[in-house]
Amino acid sequence: MATSEKKGFTATLYFILLTTMCLVGEFPLNAVAGNAAPLLQRYEDGNEHGYSRAFNAIYDTSKYGILQLQNGLARTPPMGWNSWNFFACNINETVIKETADALISTGLANLGYTYVNIDDCWSKVTRDAKGQMVPDPKTFKSGIKALADYVHSKGLKLGIYSDAGKFTCQVRPGSIFHEKEDAMSFASWDVDYLKYDNCFNLGIEPKKRGVDDPALWAGKVGNSWRTTEDINDTWVSMTNIADLNDKWAAYAGPGGWNDPDMLEVGNGGMTYKEYRSHFSIWALIKAPLLIGCDIRNMTAETKEILSNQEVIAVNQDPLGVQGRKVHSNGTDGCQQVLLLSQYMLSICITCFLAKLAYYIIIINVAATITAEWNVIGLEAGTSVSVRDLWQHEVVLNNAVASFSAQLDAHDCRMYVFTPQAALMGNVM
Ligand SMILES: *[C@@H]1O[C@H](CO)[C@@H](O)[C@H](O)[C@H]1NC(C)=O
Ligand SMILES: *[C@@H]1O[C@H](CO)[C@@H](O)[C@H](O)[C@H]1NC(C)=O
Ligand SMILES: *[C@@H]1O[C@H](CO)[C@@H](O)[C@H](O)[C@H]1NC(C)=O
Ligand SMILES: *[C@@H]1O[C@H](CO)[C@@H](O)[C@H](O)[C@H]1NC(C)=O
Repeated sequence: MATSEKKGFTATLYFILLTTMCLVGEFPLNAVAGNAAPLLQRYEDGNEHGYSRAFNAIYDTSKYGILQLQNGLARTPPMGWNSWNFFACNINETVIKETADALISTGLANLGYTYVNIDDCWSKVTRDAKGQMVPDPKTFKSGIKALADYVHSKGLKLGIYSDAGKFTCQVRPGSIFHEKEDAMSFASWDVDYLKYDNCFNLGIEPKKRGVDDPALWAGKVGNSWRTTEDINDTWVSMTNIADLNDKWAAYAGPGGWNDPDMLEVGNGGMTYKEYRSHFSIWALIKAPLLIGCDIRNMTAETKEILSNQEVIAVNQDPLGVQGRKVHSNGTDGCQQVLLLSQYMLSICITCFLAKLAYYIIIINVAATITAEWNVIGLEAGTSVSVRDLWQHEVVLNNAVASFSAQLDAHDCRMYVFTPQAALMGNVM
């Protein structure tokens, strides 16, 4: 695997430029030291690819691959859909089937969105006489097995939901003390994916059951773990969560991913530019890309965002190193933040407000944001070709020393940077 991943290593750099509102930025400018695993090092003495010594120091990849569940699953972040963010409890087998149909008809399935995940509220409020969890007879009357068969017949996969407590968050039966039988039920229904929540956990120690810093332990039992509170369909929530997720970047890797919660793209609470920023950041930080809108009824803009293959490719790159914040710069009461990912060196520039109350004021702040080569780990003299992943074109052939973009507030640019030295080499 190491060998093939190294082969797949394209000498390209991905970049996001983003202006956002400002939050209290606690991102770790200096938290990027550490021992990079050899596989992940770009800079080698005498290398011709334009990387500087600083490049390897930018990434703490010391945790890369060591905590992951090696079950062959989720080698790249899972992609698909989940019912919660749009439908909450208002689900039934019809809407799940129609969503599976829509994943196919919109072309999203072809782009990799293959999980159809049912969240809370699929089960009856009580177990049956034998203690088994049963589908709600009013809303899932054909049963989960029939639904799995339907979803599988489309070439898709079915996900289900339970909880490590007495009840789920919506007070359906939880799986505590029924773990084995519930797992057997899900397996007998041919379910492919389980989301396991933590409501009503009877006060059982979180490290055994659920909340505290799951990046440190959940890789032993699952292929992704939530790192934050629930997202909601606002710019404040989205940027806040992205910020909280950042400190766990070193723990992500093929087989196990930090999950900053599901996408809100298309749910109406943010603007087109904000959703584009949301999607760019989630892709860059190797988050599971679980769509949370009603894909049966997407706008053209929503579909365009979710279907950006160049951005999806950043998320699905086989090396799987999570992007992280590497630089910020204060201006106008904001900080501009660079988010960088390695396989594709990606940068996200954000403006983080000191107080959430200033949100409205900050909305109109535009900014020119600059990525300087020394900050992103390139030799100053390296000439870079810059491709814009939203415009789908090369915008500059020979950027040297730095690259700047003028952005509206909350807008985002995402670029792939290809050093010219690398273009002439044996990659790309
Ligand atoms: C199924 O759920 C959808 C989404 O909430 C709703 O529009 C539809 O009316 C429901 N269908 C039935 C038969 O309950
Ligand atoms: C959304 O999240 C933000 C940030 O966490 C929070 O301040 C706000 O109250 C939340 N809004 C809703 C409607 O839950
Ligand atoms: C489809 O989405 C639009 C908003 O984009 C909304 O106004 C409309 O009610 C939705 N239609 C259905 C059937 O949900
Ligand atoms: C930081 O911001 C100042 C203005 O606030 C600007 O002059 C400078 O070029 C910026 N530096 C970077 C690296 O963006």
